Amino acid sequence: MSILLTGGAGYIGSHTAVELLNAGYSVVIADDFSNSSPEVIKRVEEITKKTVSVYRVDVADKAAMRDLFSHETIEAVIHFAGFKAVGESVKKPMMYYRNNLDTTLTLLECMKEFGVSRIIFSSSATVYGSPERVPIEETDKTGGCSNPYGWTKWMIEQILTDTAKADDTLSCVLLRYFNPIGAHPSGRIGEMPNGIPNNLMPYITQVAVGRLKMLNVFGNDYDTPDGTGVRDYIHVVDLAKGHVAALKYALDHTGCEAINLGTGIGYSVLDMVHSFMRVNKVDIPFVIAPRRGGDIAQCYANPAKAERLLGWKAEKNLDDMCRDSWNWQKNNPNGYED
Ligand code: UFG
Repeated sequence: MSILLTGGAGYIGSHTAVELLNAGYSVVIADDFSNSSPEVIKRVEEITKKTVSVYRVDVADKAAMRDLFSHETIEAVIHFAGFKAVGESVKKPMMYYRNNLDTTLTLLECMKEFGVSRIIFSSSATVYGSPERVPIEETDKTGGCSNPYGWTKWMIEQILTDTAKADDTLSCVLLRYFNPIGAHPSGRIGEMPNGIPNNLMPYITQVAVGRLKMLNVFGNDYDTPDGTGVRDYIHVVDLAKGHVAALKYALDHTGCEAINLGTGIGYSVLDMVHSFMRVNKVDIPFVIAPRRGGDIAQCYANPAKAERLLGWKAEKNLDDMCRDSWNWQKNNPNGYED
C-alpha cells in the first residue's frame, strides 16, 4: 500500500515525501515537473535512503492517471499539484481555474473508480480572504479571496466538502497552510521559485546570495506593531509532519475536516529581516516601498484544532526557519541546477 503525492516533487510535496518515507510509508509521486525538477526525487531518495515510485504525468490527464492507479495500490492521496503564483493567477485566471480544478476532479474520479477513499488537500490560509479577526479559527468566515489562485483553493475545498457529504466512506482533510518557509536541515531540498520570487523568504535569501540587490518592504503603515505585514511563518518540515499526522487521522476517520497548519505566532516583515540577519550574520539591504495590492495587515492561525485532532504542533522556531532557508540557498544558489 502506498501514499500518492500529486505534485510530490514540489517544495511542500518533497518535504512531505521525506517525512512519509522516514515514517515507513511507501510513496508514489505524480508530477509533470512543470514547476519542479526530477533532481528533487534523487535528493529525497538520498536523504531517506529509500526509493520512490515516480510518474511523469499531468494530474489532469485522465488516461495517464488511470494507468498510475491501475499499476499501484494506493491507500491515500495527498493532493499538492496546482499552480500557486498569486500575481500570475490575476493575469491568467482561466489557466488557474482550468488546471487547479481539473486536476482535482480527475483525481477524485480516479479515486472513486479505484476504491481510494482518503484524501488530504493542500489548502491555504488564503481561503479566509481578509480575516475578520486574528488568530484565525477554522470556523471563521471563508471566501472574499483577492485573486483567482485563492478562489481555486476555496472552490476545491467546496468540491471536497460536497463529495464527502455525498459519500460517507470518504475521508478528507483540508490543510490550510499559513506561510511555509525553511528547508530540510540537510540543505538538499528547499524552495526554488521560477524567476523573481514573490514571497518574502525566497526574496530575502536571493538578496543574501547576491542574485537580487535589495528587498522591497511592501508598506510600513499597516495597523501592526511596527507597521509592516504580520504573518504566521511555519517551518516546512513541521508542515510536512502535519501531513503525516493528517494521514494517520484520515486513515481511521471519515468525513471532511478543515485544519489550520500554523504556529499561532505572527512575525512582521521587519522581524523576519532582522532575524535573518542576526541568525545568519549576513546583511539584507531593504527599502520601504508602497503596499502591494491585495495584501492584508495580519494573518496568523489558532492552531489548537490541529493539536486536538491530529496531535500535531509546530516545533521549530524562527531561528531554525532562517538558518535552514539560508543553508539551502547558499548551498544551492541556482536551485536544483547546481
Ligand atoms: N513582502 C515584502 N516584500 C516582498 C515580499 C513580501 O514586504 O518582496 C511582505 C508582504 O507584503 C507580506 C509578507 O511579506 O506582508 C508575506 O508575503 P508573502 O508573499 O511571503 O506571503 P503572503 O502572506 O502574501 O502569501 C502567502 C502565500 C499565498 C497564500 C497566502 C495565504 O504565498 O500562496 O500566504 O495567506 F495564499
